[in-house]
Amino acid sequence: MKVTISHIKADIGSLPGHTTVYGPVVDEVGSYVKKNGEGLISDFHISSVGDDIQITMIHDRGVDSPEVHELAWNAFKAGTSVAKKYGLYGAGQDLLKDSFSGNIKGMGPGIAEMEITPRKSEPFIVYMMDKTEPGAFNFPIFKMFADPYNTPGLVIDTNMHDGFRFEVWDIVEAKKIFLDCPEHMYDLLGLIGSKSRYVIKRVYTKKSHEKLPDENVAVISTDKLSFIAGEYVGKDDPAGIVRIQSGLPASGEAMEAFSFPYMVSGWMRGSFNGPLMPVGLKDAKMSRFDGPPKVIGLGFVLKDGKLAGPVDMFDDPAFDGARRTATQVVDYLRRMGPFEPHRLPEDEMEYTSLPRVLEKFKGKFEVIESQSKKREVKLSTKDVD
Ligand code: F6R
Ligand code: MG
Ligand code: MG
Repeated sequence: MKVTISHIKADIGSLPGHTTVYGPVVDEVGSYVKKNGEGLISDFHISSVGDDIQITMIHDRGVDSPEVHELAWNAFKAGTSVAKKYGLYGAGQDLLKDSFSGNIKGMGPGIAEMEITPRKSEPFIVYMMDKTEPGAFNFPIFKMFADPYNTPGLVIDTNMHDGFRFEVWDIVEAKKIFLDCPEHMYDLLGLIGSKSRYVIKRVYTKKSHEKLPDENVAVISTDKLSFIAGEYVGKDDPAGIVRIQSGLPASGEAMEAFSFPYMVSGWMRGSFNGPLMPVGLKDAKMSRFDGPPKVIGLGFVLKDGKLAGPVDMFDDPAFDGARRTATQVVDYLRRMGPFEPHRLPEDEMEYTSLPRVLEKFKGKFEVIESQSKKREVKLSTKDVD
């Protein structure tokens, strides 16, 4: 029988700024799901990273279930009332619509869900990031499922040797493409290196996988809040679910992908590049320059609709090196202040004052004669072509 893992997350208020969630709000979300999820979901877990509350739910209604989505929506609504009572910052900020309309997609919260054929033992890890964007998953997901230096199972486990299939979304044009690895590895990298546009949405086993043919084994939330709302309303901090072991990346191979604090976009005002720091739950708050961007990992095993766990996967001195490197990178980048490449390029910034600056000095820019002549010549040559 198929089972669905639905992970839905939202920022419904934090303190003192965008630092961390507040206990009473998290408790309210949890007790709402517990009380109202009976008969609908078989188990759930509530967690948080930075200013985002995360609900992991298990059920048998498949992806896009209106009832399951509505449960999460109403739980976030209930949490928002508590957040408002305490005057939390940005209370209810990710709930962009007044009422639920059948599917939580496009309403603000981020969602990652997959319907699976559970194995005898079904281990998986939920990764949750704050102060970054969905494309931040491109690097580690590629490492886990396609890089033999990260995942030697691709070389030495016969069940992984054929590689995996990637579903990549163009989140600007709203299009998708399926690419196989290792066959299309260089094409895949060509796309997903542009992480603000091409994002890995799902990973599947190939039909030839002996233990688990043609199955969804990883999924990432790809909800671009800024596109949904038509204006900036908060970075679309992503979450991802990765199934592991037995012909899939081992737990340690999935974790290894985060041992290098690679650079992601987001951080302060959604407008800066910074290293992604893997942390345990106790450090999952955003302090320095509203960050740095952080990732937590919770490990579960699923059996008969029930969850065992979680294990706080990055709460391990083995990741101290990654954290130290990330801190050094922060020290280095911060000295660049408002300059690129610490600051994002103009078209990727979530906050910008440039239009206003340009408006203020409208008509004050003087033509540079020599350069403008060159430009005219170049343009007319182009016309002839
Ligand atoms: C980034 C984030 C924060 C805020 C920043 C300014 O995703 O949440 O870095 O952008 O603290 O917030 P406001 O404009 O609300 O004062
Ligand atoms: Mg957040
Ligand atoms: Mg936020």
